[in-house]
Amino acid sequence: MIKPLSEHPDHIQYLCSLLDIGTQSRQLSRVYGGFHHKMWRLDTDRSTYAIKQLSEDTDLSNSDIISHYNVTEAIAETFVSHGISAIFALKRNTNYLQIIENTGYLVYPWSNAVALDENRISKKHALKIASVLAMMHQANIVVPGLKESQLDIHPEEKIIALVQRASECNARSAKALYEELQSFLSIADSYKAAVKILEKHVLISHGDLDQKNVLWDATDNPILIDWESARKLNPTYEIVLEATDWSGITSKFDHSLYEKIISAYKQAGGVIESDFLHASFDCILGDWLYWLMYNIARSVDLEDAEQRSIGTKQVDLVLSTILRLKHLLPKLASGSTSVC
Ligand SMILES: Nc1ncnc2c1ncn2[C@@H]1O[C@H](COP(=O)(O)OP(=O)(O)OP(=O)(O)O)[C@@H](O)[C@H]1O
Ligand SMILES: [Mg+2]
Repeated sequence: MIKPLSEHPDHIQYLCSLLDIGTQSRQLSRVYGGFHHKMWRLDTDRSTYAIKQLSEDTDLSNSDIISHYNVTEAIAETFVSHGISAIFALKRNTNYLQIIENTGYLVYPWSNAVALDENRISKKHALKIASVLAMMHQANIVVPGLKESQLDIHPEEKIIALVQRASECNARSAKALYEELQSFLSIADSYKAAVKILEKHVLISHGDLDQKNVLWDATDNPILIDWESARKLNPTYEIVLEATDWSGITSKFDHSLYEKIISAYKQAGGVIESDFLHASFDCILGDWLYWLMYNIARSVDLEDAEQRSIGTKQVDLVLSTILRLKHLLPKLASGSTSVC
C-alpha cells in the first residue's frame, strides 16, 4: 500500500520546491469528498493548495496514463481560456502531473468554494450546469495530444467472476447482484453497440460533471474540478448523463427537473440530437455498470478497509440507480414527456 502524503514530509518538501510554492506552514490535513484518490490541504507561507495523491491503482509505469493526466489538466486550462470557470493543476514545464517515488500528485490552487451535498442542490444549480455544458459544447476546443477514449467496459467473464466473488465473500448485496446478472450482461452488450453509434459526433468535454465535481463560490457560480474523465464524447450523451444525475437518478428522480435541464441546455445554444438519445442511455447504463463492477471489486478488497467501506456503500447506491434507470429508460430514450 502506498503511504499517505501526511507520512511523506520529503514528498511535500519536494513538491513545494518543484512548483515553487513556498514552505509548508501548517500540518497537512485530509480533504474528504472524492471517492477515488486522496486529497490533502497544504498551507505554505505563500498560499494554500489542494494536493491530489493518486490512488494506488494508477499505473504510473504506463506512459499513456501519465499523458492522460497531463492532457486532461490541459483541457481544463483550455476551457478556462474560453471563459469556463474551472481549476487546473499547477505545472512545471509542460507537466501537470508530478511523480515522486512512483506516487502521482496533482497540485491545485486551493478554492474556498464548496461542493454542495445532494440535499442542497436546487433547480437553480442544475440549470446553471446545463448552460455551462452548452457553452463547453459550443466552444468545441482543440487540445493536442488527446488520445481516443478507451472502451471502459468489463468483458462478460469479468462481470460473472466479480458477481461470484461478491457471493464467495458474503458481500451484503451478493444476492441482489446475482439476480441481476443477466441484465448486467445485456447492458454490457448494448453498451458496446452504443459507443460505436455515439462516436459519430464527438467533442472535448468534462465527462464527469456530477455534484462532487462542481464547487460553488460565494455568489453561487459553479467552478468545475476533477477533469480526469475529460475526453472526446458525444454532446447529447453528456447532457443526458448530467441531466439524469442532477435530477436525482441516484436517489429520487425528478422528471420535471430533468426536462427543465434539457430545456436550459437548448436555450443556452446546446443541441439535443435525437438520433443519439437511445444510444446515450445505453451508454449511461454501461457507465453505471462499469462503476458497479469497480466498486464490487473494492468492496471485497482484503487489504484496504477504507476502500472496502467506500466500495460497499457505492455498490448499494449504484445497483439501485441501475434498476431505476432501466425502468425509466424506455420513456426517457423516446424523448417522451410523461414519466411517472
Ligand atoms: N482546488 C480545490 N480546493 C479546495 N478543495 C478542493 C479542490 N479540489 C478538490 N477539492 C475537494 O476535494 C474533493 C475531491 O476532489 P476530486 O473530485 O478532484 O477528487 P477525486 O478523488 O478525483 O474524486 P472522484 O471520486 O470524483 O474521482 C472535492 O469534492 C472538493 O471538496
Ligand atoms: Mg471528484
